[in-house]
Amino acid sequence: MTTPFTAPKGTYDLLPPASEEFLAVVNALSRPAELAGYQYVQTPMFEDTALFTRSVGESTDVVSKEMYTFEDKGGRSLTLRPEGTAGVIRAVVEHNLLAGQLPVKLWYTGPNFRYEAPQSGRYRQHVQVGIEAIGVDDPALDAEVIATAAEGFRALGLTQARLLLNSLGDATCRPAYRERLQEFLGGLDLDADTRRRAEINPLRVLDDKRPEVRAQLAGAPLLADNLCEACREHYDEVRGYLKELGVQWEEAPRLVRGLDYYTKTTFEFQHDGLGSQSAVGGGGRYDGLVESVGGPALSGIGFGLGVDRTMLALRAEGIAVADPARCQVFIVPLGAAKARAVTLAGELRRAGVSTDLAYGGRGLKGAMKAADRSGARYAVVIGERDLEGGTAQLKDLASGDQVAVPLTDAVSTIQEKLS
Ligand code: HAM
Repeated sequence: MTTPFTAPKGTYDLLPPASEEFLAVVNALSRPAELAGYQYVQTPMFEDTALFTRSVGESTDVVSKEMYTFEDKGGRSLTLRPEGTAGVIRAVVEHNLLAGQLPVKLWYTGPNFRYEAPQSGRYRQHVQVGIEAIGVDDPALDAEVIATAAEGFRALGLTQARLLLNSLGDATCRPAYRERLQEFLGGLDLDADTRRRAEINPLRVLDDKRPEVRAQLAGAPLLADNLCEACREHYDEVRGYLKELGVQWEEAPRLVRGLDYYTKTTFEFQHDGLGSQSAVGGGGRYDGLVESVGGPALSGIGFGLGVDRTMLALRAEGIAVADPARCQVFIVPLGAAKARAVTLAGELRRAGVSTDLAYGGRGLKGAMKAADRSGARYAVVIGERDLEGGTAQLKDLASGDQVAVPLTDAVSTIQEKLS
């Protein structure tokens, strides 16, 4: 016998009822974006490898260790996208959208691929809902993006998602700060790996979670204290607008994101019920990104929210967001009533009532069991004698009450009862 296949390591199958929850989460997280004027965009799941090296950054773990890169039969180096921003910016530049109305506001959803060590909340394929607002550097837009993410979590009923906020400065203030930080890090007792990281991207060392490193970082210079005038003003304005919008946040001067393209406003949503993989979403502004993929010198801002982790957060807070019922009505035809049952199912579905049917010529007992399992509110039993009299038995599956209804009125009666 052949050994059965299993899903690849670090991936999982999304089956009902969790799959229904997944759709509800994607819907809830993207709805606020639509309400704020973002339009749907879809880009390929694989891109030119160089797009990610250039945008996400060669020194990041995502690019240096986690990419699924392969050569296609035409000898091109392609990579399964590890995140959504680079592809969207590539498409915006390729199709010259920045020559039109600015900002260009887009939302997207889909899987991303990272070769990470799998654990709870960390997968090799994960799904994000994201938005990008490109072409305008206005602090009010930063606040809109952040509030849109916060609204998605709020709408789902999550209460333990905290917003962490920071500014990473820009090309004016970051180089000088970087040097100061490097100098500081040079005086610490760090292992060879961390020392190398301090050389390539010292800001990332600030994010080190190990207690022995953390203790040494207590007195590290912070970017928040070293922002240039323009970045400070921008950040102050973002906070002013967030207050206007009623969004609460925590200052996180050590928040460094795992991708290199960020400048100025950066943020992350952390959920307290998730253990070590606590970031349910994150994003920020990116000044140089559009230019780095061949577009004009315009900045943008966006976020990516983790759908898989949001589902874990809902579970941690005991929130159910999807209706577990498969259908509202379940039809049970007996004997010659099958053709009429098929017709009725079609009529109910056209009327917007979700309807299933007992297939396979099961007896009454088995079919009623299937009706119960379906989660339907009503069963419609059509026996041969009912058929002769032009009626059906409408059974309330919760109370067990049963009434005979004329088949010609069945759709309207059911609609009324469901409303
Ligand atoms: P990111 O922080 O790398 O940002 O990912 C966004 C979210 O995706 C994370 O907060 C997390 O919830 C989820 N996520 C990331 N990796 C995994 C994984 N291995 N397993 C499960 N969930 C994961 C970005 O990707 C940026 N493109 C966001 C952005 C858009 N910035 C500006 N615009």
